[in-house]
Amino acid sequence: MNAAAEQVLQVENLHAGFGQRGRAQMAIEGVTFQVKKGRVFGLVGESGCGKSTTCRSIIRLFGGSPFVIEQGRILFDGKDLAAMDDQQLAGIRGRKISMIFQDPMTALNPTMRVGDQVAEIVRRNHVGLSSTQVREKVVGLLREVGITSPERRFSAWPHELSGGLRQRVLIAMALSCAPQLLIADEPTTALDVTIQAQVLRLLHDLRERIGMSVLLVTHDLGVVAQHCDDMAVMYAGKIVESGSVAEIFANPRHPYTRALLNALPAHVDPEHKLEPIPGEPPAAGQYPAGCRFHPRCRFAIDRCHNEIPDNEQLTREHACACHRKEEILW
Ligand SMILES: Nc1ncnc2c1ncn2[C@@H]1O[C@H](COP(=O)(O)OP(=O)(O)O)[C@@H](O)[C@H]1O
Ligand code: SF4
Ligand SMILES: [Mg+2]
Repeated sequence: MNAAAEQVLQVENLHAGFGQRGRAQMAIEGVTFQVKKGRVFGLVGESGCGKSTTCRSIIRLFGGSPFVIEQGRILFDGKDLAAMDDQQLAGIRGRKISMIFQDPMTALNPTMRVGDQVAEIVRRNHVGLSSTQVREKVVGLLREVGITSPERRFSAWPHELSGGLRQRVLIAMALSCAPQLLIADEPTTALDVTIQAQVLRLLHDLRERIGMSVLLVTHDLGVVAQHCDDMAVMYAGKIVESGSVAEIFANPRHPYTRALLNALPAHVDPEHKLEPIPGEPPAAGQYPAGCRFHPRCRFAIDRCHNEIPDNEQLTREHACACHRKEEILW
C-alpha cells in the first residue's frame, strides 16, 4: 500500500482565522498533518493553541463566527474540502465525517428523549427504514457504544443521564452514518477521570471494530500516550512536533513537547518535581516574531527571536520545528 492510499485526511499548509478575508486574525498558520486509515491521531497542546480551530475548519463548523480559510488544502476521499461550497460540504458533514465535542449536554436537545434524537439522525442517514427498523437500529447503536439496557434508555431524557452516558449517546449519533473519520474535540475533558477512561477506551475499540479513523483533540499528553497512534503538538497556531506516538515519547525533541511531558505526573520520576510551564500561550493575532515559543523557552538563542523554524523531518516518523532540535541534549 502506498503512503497516500493509507491516508483518510490530509491537511496541507492550512492558514485559517476569524474575520474578513484579507484582514482576518489568523488562528492557525501552515498546519500540515495526515490522519491514516484506521488510526487515532492525537492533536495536543495547551488551551488556545488552535486545536479546535483546526478541527472545525475541516468541516467548517463555527456556529456563525466569521471564519476564513486563507490558504491550504484539506484532502478527504480525494477531494479538497477547503474548496467546496457549503452545500457540497453538507454532504460530507455528518455522513462521512462526524464530530463530537467537549460538552455533551449542549449538543443534545433537552426537550427530546434521547432515543428519538438518535432516531432522527438514523432516519436522515438511512432513508426508507420503517419505524420498527429505526428503533432496532437505535437500540443497536446504543448497545454498540456500551449503554446497558438500551431499550430502557431509549425513553430517557438527556438530564436523566450522567455526563459519560450523554457522551456515549453523542458517539452513537456520530456513528449512525458509519463515518470514515470521527473528529473528537476534547470529548472527555468535562467528565471525571474514571468515566473519561471508559469513553476513551470506547473510541479506541470502535476504531478497531469498525475501522474508522479518529482525530482526537486533547490537552493531555497522557491521553495521547494511551490512546493515539500518531500525534502532533500545537503551539500558538502552528504544529511544532509531529510523528508516531512511540517515536515522540521515546525521543521528544521540541522544548515545548518536553515541557508538556515534564508537567505530566505519570511521566515524571517520583524523585523529580512536576514542572508546570511558566507563562501562557499567546492569543491569535498576538504571536511573537521568530519561534513563537521563544518567550517561554529556556533554550532560546538570538536566532529564535526573529527566524521562524520550519517543521522539518528528523526521521520518516518524526518532524520538529526548532532551530536547536539536533543540538539540545536532554
Ligand atoms: N470564534 C472565534 N472568534 C475569534 N477568535 C477565536 C474564535 N475561536 C477561537 N478563537 C481564537 O483562536 C485561537 C485558537 O483557539 P482554539 O482553536 O479554540 O484553541 P484550542 O482549541 O487549542 O484551545 C485563540 O486565540 C482563540 O481566542
Ligand atoms: S526554536 Fe529556539 S525558542 Fe523555539 S523552541 Fe527551539 S530553542 Fe526554543
Ligand atoms: Mg478547543
